[in-house]
Amino acid sequence: MFYRLLATQVLFAVTLATPIAIERRQSASASDSPAATVVPTATAVGPPGASGYLRGSTDLGGFSSSNPVDTTADASVVSPDQYELAPGQDADKDLGLFLDLSTVENPQPIRGSTDAPTDPGPRNIALDRENSDAFAPPGTDAGTVPNGKWPLGLSANRHGLGSAGWARQQNIDALPIATAMAGVDMRLSPNAYREMHWHKANEWSLILNGSVRLNSMNEAGETFVDDLQAGDVWFFPAGIPHSIQASEAGVEFLLVFDSGDFSEDGTNLLSETFERNSKAVLAKDLRVDTSAFDKIPDGELYIFDGTPFPKNISTDNITGPAGVIPQSSTYSYHLSQQAAYEVPGGSVKIIDPVSFPIASNFAAGLFVIKPGAMRELHWHTTSDEWNYIISGQGRLTVYSAPASSRTFDFQAGDVGYVPVPASHYLENTGTEDLVYLEVLQAPAYNDISVAQWLGLTPKRVVKDHLGFSDDTLNRLPKIKPYILPGNTNLTQTNFTSESE
Ligand SMILES: *[C@@H]1O[C@H](CO)[C@@H](O)[C@H](O)[C@H]1NC(C)=O
Ligand SMILES: *[C@@H]1O[C@H](CO)[C@@H](O)[C@H](O)[C@H]1NC(C)=O
Ligand SMILES: *[C@@H]1O[C@H](CO)[C@@H](O)[C@H](O)[C@H]1NC(C)=O
Ligand SMILES: *[C@@H]1O[C@H](CO)[C@@H](O)[C@H](O)[C@H]1NC(C)=O
Ligand SMILES: *[C@@H]1O[C@H](CO)[C@@H](O)[C@H](O)[C@H]1NC(C)=O
Repeated sequence: MFYRLLATQVLFAVTLATPIAIERRQSASASDSPAATVVPTATAVGPPGASGYLRGSTDLGGFSSSNPVDTTADASVVSPDQYELAPGQDADKDLGLFLDLSTVENPQPIRGSTDAPTDPGPRNIALDRENSDAFAPPGTDAGTVPNGKWPLGLSANRHGLGSAGWARQQNIDALPIATAMAGVDMRLSPNAYREMHWHKANEWSLILNGSVRLNSMNEAGETFVDDLQAGDVWFFPAGIPHSIQASEAGVEFLLVFDSGDFSEDGTNLLSETFERNSKAVLAKDLRVDTSAFDKIPDGELYIFDGTPFPKNISTDNITGPAGVIPQSSTYSYHLSQQAAYEVPGGSVKIIDPVSFPIASNFAAGLFVIKPGAMRELHWHTTSDEWNYIISGQGRLTVYSAPASSRTFDFQAGDVGYVPVPASHYLENTGTEDLVYLEVLQAPAYNDISVAQWLGLTPKRVVKDHLGFSDDTLNRLPKIKPYILPGNTNLTQTNFTSESE
């Protein structure tokens, strides 16, 4: 809009301006008015009420003896009485404490006491407060690591028909390193549908809120119907057609696809299948009169309102001679009913093809990290990791070979991405539980724990590498901790008492 307006004004100026010679009005004395008014060759003739010139004179280029730059002024200095420091901000920068800038007045990108750069602006203070590890990185961050964070709040929200729902997506267009997986957050209002469709990527889903009814059919004509609630998972293999309908409670779910360039806007739709084939062909295909297609939708349905589904699911259980899809290859998993694996500091539920065989190559961990606790330092051996923050907040450092690292801060609704085999952790930096999902492309969930690796290496070898004391060597675990508990006071640095 801005550029269009500018282009119109320029055109107007070029068309109507009367060229005049440069007229340089020197002020009486360069010192009391150093900025001379310089009239350009082509003046602007704008709409009524406009004044001034669209361009300056070429005389403003380069050195001039009447240079008005005042290098003595301290206008850009942010003095200590103009800002606050967060707890831990003056601590050694290699300690890299989490800086909670959320309520800090005029936060500054300061780490440690020896150097104190300030930011007079321009700035987006809300982003600086949410991303303190980007604004004032730990001293240990180094080199270049590609961006690994995409808040879905920055994605355009595509609305369905009427008030039926919406969807917003992340793929490589938003996050270029995310080549192996893409994600969508979708909302269906009460009784609304995501229309009957299919696509070329495999689709894995976690229900975030509400409940849903699913219908599908495979190549053999075996059918599938199930109702799922928050915390449950579904998987539809590539090419398998499916429909998704919200219950009267409505639903919100997360979709993960095994292709970084997947676009939710590019799926194959039932509505368009009927709109893009001739009526004679459709009539022959279904052995009906062409008038059967008088009421097919005009344009895609995508997300639209539906009639409530019958409470008795047997009514929607349509079977042919092939029967139903057997449980060994079913498309749903009631993960909400799985007991979590509890450890000090939190809990985890693993779901992968070992317990959900149809979900080929989708291995996921649903983690709950208590305040102050941390998903341990680890890496995955064979797959990139796609993350979604369900609630709470946390930070994660990606260490990339050989010598780079970058720390990201995450809030609920953010997607994170860690390329294989970069090491990382995820520390809860908030006051409530951090609940998040890790998704891998692997036949079984896998990770290597740094702590366990050291604990299962001869002490002499570890000592030769890292110079650890005997006490430190004796504390190294032989069992993978997954999650480590920690003090909820994140500037408290005595961690030895936190083993519970
Ligand atoms: C679902 O959303 C409602 C309304 O915001 C909220 O009260 C409820 O806690 C949510 N449920 C879950 C499982 O997040
Ligand atoms: C659907 O019908 C089949 C028998 O054809 C039965 O095995 C299956 O349990 C039924 N499913 C539901 C959800 O009613
Ligand atoms: C659900 O519908 C099936 C098939 O119509 C019927 O046999 C069954 O009794 C119904 N169940 C309930 C609880 O109404
Ligand atoms: C957190 O710990 C630091 C360091 O021991 C201490 O100075 C600070 O008062 C503590 N903060 C709270 C809120 O307890
Ligand atoms: C850390 O905390 C433990 C347990 O509270 C205590 O025994 C130890 O002396 C503390 N260490 C330091 C360096 O303060």
